[in-house]
Amino acid sequence: MATQVKTDMPTFDPSANIHWTQRSWPDLFAKMRATDPLHYTEDSEFGAYWSATKYKDIVEIEALPKIFSSSWEYSGITIADRVEEFADAEPMPMFIAMDPPEHTPQRRTVAPKFTPSEMNFMEPEIRARTAEVLDGLPINEAFDWVDRVSIELTTGMLALLFDFPWADRRKLTEWSDYAGDINAAKDEGFSKERMNKMYEMGMYFAGLWEMKKQQPPGRDLISMMQASPAMSDMPEQMFIGNLILLIVGGNDTTRNSMTGIARTMHQWPEEWDKVRGEGEGSKIVKTAVQELIRWQTPLAHMRRTATEDYELNGKLIRKGDKVIMWYASANRDEDMFKDGDKFIADRENARRQIAFGYGIHRCVGARLAELQLTTLVEEMVKRNMRLTCTEEPVRVESCFVNGYRKQMVTMMRD
Ligand code: HEM
Repeated sequence: MATQVKTDMPTFDPSANIHWTQRSWPDLFAKMRATDPLHYTEDSEFGAYWSATKYKDIVEIEALPKIFSSSWEYSGITIADRVEEFADAEPMPMFIAMDPPEHTPQRRTVAPKFTPSEMNFMEPEIRARTAEVLDGLPINEAFDWVDRVSIELTTGMLALLFDFPWADRRKLTEWSDYAGDINAAKDEGFSKERMNKMYEMGMYFAGLWEMKKQQPPGRDLISMMQASPAMSDMPEQMFIGNLILLIVGGNDTTRNSMTGIARTMHQWPEEWDKVRGEGEGSKIVKTAVQELIRWQTPLAHMRRTATEDYELNGKLIRKGDKVIMWYASANRDEDMFKDGDKFIADRENARRQIAFGYGIHRCVGARLAELQLTTLVEEMVKRNMRLTCTEEPVRVESCFVNGYRKQMVTMMRD
């Protein structure tokens, strides 16, 4: 019979911010995979939780959404129990935090905006904006890659997707940073500040939604949602919630993958030489982008809650237990990726990276993120750009958003 807790095991707590600010998590997860791959932490700043660190266990969990729920009813999708509770607020309804049957029709309303033909439609504009940003960068002079490239391109991509007012696009970064900050669950004052920002964002989107309704429909995502019969019966709160989900979901993730380009170019210039050698439009660019997403894994985890007892990898997970799926660990699982902490531009199975999740909640925006990242790499290759990091990065203090606040670089062009 499986046991819930093995008392002879050391206690691991990958939720502690220090593992993310000091980047000690790759070693920690390697130890956990080797000694206790499905580990139970009894006590942490986020309470008790299970850590799934192996690729195959995460796939098993994600394939069973009835048993492992994403719903707000059980506190949602991150290790932090509902941050809203401090502020006496209800969580925004959004389909990432819903189970079937509610999840299915809502996801279907936005999925058509991410088809290959929609990506072809968006590609020329994304390419033009990427080229403009790259051509405006200083050469042989230090600058912050996060600010000048990652934020600029990500907000531009989202503004295009939503037909969002261009002048206000940097608000998207500020809101998204607040929305994804799970540290609010630990601090009542910060939680209230976060709720105020969320309210400001909600009001802005409500206004945008009304404004778009008065205009002739375009090909942007808001027009598409407004024209969708499945959404026409939806309460306004739910529209807004889903809009916020799309903006936040596409923001930190794409931005931090872009900063991963600077980190990996600095650490493994010879791997990026392989990409430059093959040139723009080559197969290696697509593989390198998958490898970049794997290596960075911009969302370190997602959470599920068990709705019934379930035996997994020899342990008994009990009804009500919090289960954390550490994508950051699965993407370095030695049973799947050899030498996983290394960026290998032409890694044979890079496509199997699990940073977008797996199963019914697998990232709906994956194609758009891939398009933006592929375009960026291609345009950098075209310009023979090389990056060196001139300082250590300032990393996000979080076990959820695995990313950077600042990364100073210098750029050379051959
Ligand atoms: C879901 C990662 C880009 C929108 C997810 C999930 C992950 C993820 C891990 C949850 C999977 C799960 O719970 O099983 C990423 C990464 C990205 C990225 C690594 C970039 C490198 C984007 C973009 C958008 C987006 C560009 C949209 C503009 C969404 C939405 C969901 C989602 C709406 C919810 C899907 C559902 O519940 O059915 N993403 N994402 N993401 N993502 Fe992304």
